[in-house]
Amino acid sequence: MGKIIAITNQKGGVGKTTTAINLAASLHFRGRSVLLVDCDPQCNATTGMGIDKSKVKGLYDVMFRDYPIQEAILETKHAQVLASHADLAGANVELVDMERREFLLKSKLEPVKDQYEYILIDCPPSLELLTLNALSASDRVLVPVQSEFYALEGLSDLMNTVRLVKQRLNPGLELEGLLLTMYDGRTRLSKDVEKALREHFPGKVYQTVIPRSIRLSEAPSHGMPCLEYDRMCRGTRAYLHFTNEFLKLQEAERLQAEQERLERERQAAEEAARKEAEERARLAEEARQREEEAARQREEAKKLEEARKRELAQQRGKKKKGKQRRRQEPQTQEDKPQEAPPPDPEEEARRLERERRAEEERRQDEELRRELQRREEERRREQERRAEQERQKELERLRKEEEARREATHRQEKERLKELSEAQKQAEREQESGILGFFGIKRKRKE
Ligand SMILES: Nc1ncnc2c1ncn2[C@@H]1O[C@H](COP(=O)(O)OP(=O)(O)OP(=O)(O)O)[C@@H](O)[C@H]1O
Ligand SMILES: [Mg+2]
Repeated sequence: MGKIIAITNQKGGVGKTTTAINLAASLHFRGRSVLLVDCDPQCNATTGMGIDKSKVKGLYDVMFRDYPIQEAILETKHAQVLASHADLAGANVELVDMERREFLLKSKLEPVKDQYEYILIDCPPSLELLTLNALSASDRVLVPVQSEFYALEGLSDLMNTVRLVKQRLNPGLELEGLLLTMYDGRTRLSKDVEKALREHFPGKVYQTVIPRSIRLSEAPSHGMPCLEYDRMCRGTRAYLHFTNEFLKLQEAERLQAEQERLERERQAAEEAARKEAEERARLAEEARQREEEAARQREEAKKLEEARKRELAQQRGKKKKGKQRRRQEPQTQEDKPQEAPPPDPEEEARRLERERRAEEERRQDEELRRELQRREEERRREQERRAEQERQKELERLRKEEEARREATHRQEKERLKELSEAQKQAEREQESGILGFFGIKRKRKE
């Protein structure tokens, strides 16, 4: 994903265009893909890159004439360029009545954003609508600051504007850094400005400073970046040095973002594992409660059965006593019949038959009841056994899932760490080869 950087400062002549041209050329020299967008009606970046502004379609046509951006982008020796045109001076008037007028540039850059690693926008020296468009379209703001007495003047206005744009138009906008330009290490003034700037913006001022260099100011009139005009001059060396610092910070930022992402993923995985463990504990607790409930029901059924048996036994005991009493009653004195009538043998046989049948029926009833009870008990046990099997299966599945997830996360982390260390090594190798290349050229010149 391309990173869009607005090079801006509403103060004029502080080195915005010089920085845009030379940073673009140095990034290209370091093998990065760069698009330089000239957003200033003065067209200094366009001419500074050797483009005849009168003969080309550029940002004006893209923004206000619907000219396709892919066709407007020009290939130069050092970077690709979206040129400017003097007509762009009328942009503020054309923008005023437009809907979402602050987002026009953003929408126009969208289709090519991912084709470049860096898109640098050279802004005009004002905080008007064109600059607001550049800030709304950008991810970062790079501020060149001239090492002179009024350097800090207007910087607070610029920072306020950046803050407002961030609040209202572009929440992702951040300050990339401040670059001291036209620095003269021999003067007290330059050192004082540097000190004040570093105090005001701790950690945001680049260590590299761009010295005052005649060759830097001459290069644009030849339509070339200083890297081409004079590869050995102080200005070129300073911008190459600055580019190295810039890229190092980009890499560090990328690594940090990557680490933060990994950390977020790790925390999410931990959270998921914790939730799963809770779910497993909940399932186990539910199973335990079900088991307890089943045991309680078994116990109750047993007690009921015992109570019923006792009642049956009591009823039998009462019947037996009643029979005995009836057999003993004729022997008492009162109401004793003089002589018991002889039992009718047929009647006696029928009574005995009835009693036998009743006893038989009772026995059959009892057997049936026991059989039903036994079946009911078997059915309940079978249900419990199945529920337990299901629960075990569920636990096993969750355990396997968790293992697989842990393994995948571990593998991903290992791969990413490997990628990160390779990327870091690659960056170091690139930087080293850049510096060697630079000294190789120097040796040739001496020879
Ligand atoms: N480090 C430097 N040493 C000497 N001259 C420089 C240096 N940087 C820039 N200049 C010169 O200073 C002048 C202003 O620089 P530049 O055009 O880059 O500033 P700017 O901020 O883009 O200006 P503007 O606000 O008008 O767009 C130019 O003539 C440029 O060549
Ligand atoms: Mg300029």
